[in-house]
Parts: sequence; structure tokens; C-alpha cells
Amino acid sequence: MFKSLVLVAQTLYLVSVLAGDTATKLVEKTLPANGGVAFVGEQHKQTPFPQWLTDFTGMTQWPGLDPPYVPLSFIDMSKIPNYKQHQQGGCRVNPLEACSFDCHNCVEPDDVHTCAKLSQTFDDGPTPATLRLLDKLKHKTTFFALGINTVNHPNIYREVMENGHLIGTHTWSHAYLPSLTNEQIIAQIEWSIWAMNATGNHYPKWFRPPYGGIDNRIRAITRQFGLQAVLWDHDTFDWKLVSNDPKRTENQIYDDVREWKKHKQGLILEHDGAHKTVDVALNVIDILGNDQLTVSQCVNGIDYIKKYSE
Ligand SMILES: *[C@@H]1O[C@H](CO)[C@@H](O)[C@H](O)[C@H]1NC(C)=O
Repeated sequence: MFKSLVLVAQTLYLVSVLAGDTATKLVEKTLPANGGVAFVGEQHKQTPFPQWLTDFTGMTQWPGLDPPYVPLSFIDMSKIPNYKQHQQGGCRVNPLEACSFDCHNCVEPDDVHTCAKLSQTFDDGPTPATLRLLDKLKHKTTFFALGINTVNHPNIYREVMENGHLIGTHTWSHAYLPSLTNEQIIAQIEWSIWAMNATGNHYPKWFRPPYGGIDNRIRAITRQFGLQAVLWDHDTFDWKLVSNDPKRTENQIYDDVREWKKHKQGLILEHDGAHKTVDVALNVIDILGNDQLTVSQCVNGIDYIKKYSE
């Protein structure tokens, strides 16, 4: 997914940390080696780093893959349960009550994981491939955008908006959240929200965890942002088409989708991060037709928590 990324030199930057509501102290931080990431040839088109975000963070440019933690006064750390951090598949470290979706397919009552009408959803954009999807779509659909792609493709992000589609957050840089500390999780969420606000003037309601990586530690954080988790009950595994060892073919995906269509309900996971997965999505639209819902329509909910005026 980050094939188009290139590492730039390690940089030093200043982050102003809001200590309570009173003092502001400057803390010097060094970006890790994988920080300071930019898209080749796209930087001039980036969402400008807004003054309100400089005022709040002390920074003047968008972070790399490992965004810095900026404390937020509305987050109560004592509300976050102490489940253990783990890598993907390292599921034994936590009890079943942690309610992990990727480990045990567990969902909480406020998670959205299905839909009354079988509907597609798209993760990992916006990318140039997203535009081909926009050309084809005759119904409103849901995109879960990465913050880092949002600030690097602001015009594509706004075109998705102008076409009336719903956009939720997919974190800043596609981290597997259960492997992160609470502070790192907050950083992934806050920077994705700031990217969406700086680019689209709105604050999202819907959150799709990368790799389905969510448990009650992560929910305790995302709920404090007002976000609601969106999972799925039908997986195309379309990303396997772009992985080094493809264990899935286009035709297997189309066969699955035709089968799912018979039951009429559900939420389908797809990706607009690559041309190959978008090629598949265009054919899936032909199979399913346009009688689909956005995630907010699935649950009769709102599209965004807030829309700001410019
Ligand atoms: C969103 O952007 C507006 C400026 O358009 C700013 O005043 C506001 O503080 C931002 N809110 C968040 C949560 O990013």
C-alpha cells in the first residue's frame, strides 16, 4: 500500500504539549527512522498545514508514518482498560472479554458490522485509483480514508465528498492498533481526524480499524472521540490480489459476491488503495447493482459529527 512512498531524511521537530489547560511547554522529539514520509511529486498538492493545527500542536507540517502523540483534554486515560498489546495473530494474550474483532470476530452493540442491503465499502484511499471508482458509481457508498493519503490527495478526497459519498476514518497510516500503546493509538486517530478536517472541513463519525484490529481497549479510545466502529461480515480479500503471494483470483471474488447477493444483506470489505482492487470493485458493482446503502444509511445514523464552515 505504501509503494508510492519514499523515505526522506530524518528530521527534528518541536511539539508543543498542552499540559492541562494552563501551561504550554515545548518538548523536543525525534522522528523515528520510518518517520518523515512523503509522496513523490505530490507534495506541492498537499493539504496546507492549517494555522489552527500549528497553534495546537506546535508543528508546521504533516507527520510521517509514525505521527506524534498530542495530548487531548477530553480523553480520560483512566477509562481505557488494560488489555495487552499484541501483534496480528497474537491473540492469546487477552481474555475473550477484550472482544477482539480480528481475533474472535467479537462485536460490541455499538459496532456496525452488517447492513439491511448488501453494500460495498472501500478502505485505504484516497488514491488516483479512487477516481475510476467515482466515475463508475451511481449510488452513494462509504470510503474509509487514511489521513496520510487524505493530505497527499486533497483534491481526490474533495471529489469523493462532492460526489455525495460518505467518508470515515481508517487511521492516519494504517497501523495495526492492538500492537500500539494508548498514546500511539490516540495519535493515529487524532491525526486522521485533523487530516479530514483540514481537507474536508468535517469531523468524522465512522471508524474502520485497519486489519479489523479492534478490541475493548481501542474502543474505549475511539468512543471518546465520538467515533463508532464499522466492521464487516463479507470480506472479498481483494488485497490478496496485490500481495506478493496471491492466493485469490478475481473469479473467486466474483463467485463469492454472487453467492452473497442471494442473501441480500451485509457489509462488504473492499479497497480503493490500488488499481487492481478497484478493477475488481468495478465488476462487483456490475454484479450487485446500485441498490446499496452508505454505512450511516445502514443504521439510520448521522454522516459526520460536525461540519465546519471554511
Ligand atoms: C476543525 O477546523 C476548524 C477550522 O476550519 C477549527 O477551528 C477546528 O478547531 C477544527 N477542529 C478539529 C477537531 O480539528
